[in-house]
Amino acid sequence: MLKLGVNVDHVATLRQARRGVYPDVVSAAKLCETSGAWGITAHLREDRRHINDVDIAALKANVTHLNMEMAVTDEMVEIASRLVPNSCCLVPEKRQELTTEGGLNVAESLSRVSNAVVRLHEKGIKVSLFIDPEERQIALAKEVGADYIELHTGRYSNTSGTEQVAELDRLIAGAELAHSLGLKVNAGHGIDYDNMAGILRVPHLSELNIGFSIISRAVFVGLGEAVKEMRKLMDTYTM
Ligand code: PXP
Repeated sequence: MLKLGVNVDHVATLRQARRGVYPDVVSAAKLCETSGAWGITAHLREDRRHINDVDIAALKANVTHLNMEMAVTDEMVEIASRLVPNSCCLVPEKRQELTTEGGLNVAESLSRVSNAVVRLHEKGIKVSLFIDPEERQIALAKEVGADYIELHTGRYSNTSGTEQVAELDRLIAGAELAHSLGLKVNAGHGIDYDNMAGILRVPHLSELNIGFSIISRAVFVGLGEAVKEMRKLMDTYTM
């Protein structure tokens, strides 16, 4: 079954709008789990703009499967090594960006990524690399010993027409290549209720990590229902 990881960063973003205590991130995560999420994803950014250190520790203590998104820095590797989430997804991070803008350039930071993979593996943490569907990045993900890649679906989500079709073809080819190399394939970024149909044409998918569309839908139908609706769409996946 295609697994759904719900990204709860946006719950924390709402809380930070008033720097208060609600909505509570852990309660939201637990509701996601009871509504059909297989796992919970949270990004501890270097600037702590949404999820903070207390949140990530509380999530680890309270959810069944925690996927921690993080930049490839010593600080983050140390926090993950202490916390031991079930998996870590290594992402590029720029302070000024609104959200993660592009995939990790593994070639550019080969030794840093490779060291992080080794250190996280020493703690028994599975490692995923968030990358664009490019042959070189996928081959390097294999080379550094990652367990998963997470295909960046941002460009697919932000385009339409022939451009979107071309990007979907790149995602399909990327998934085929990664699978042939023995890597597990996840995908995420910008996936919503409308563009899910194309995503379901990508073969060999293990998990989808989805945040913004679910939390946005929750404004109208409630969080539990928003997760259930997404889960239902994913149930048609047969590849
Ligand atoms: N996967 C990764 C690696 C991300 O950085 C994000 C955004 O935080 C997501 C998935 C979820 O993206 P969205 O919130 O657009 O669904």
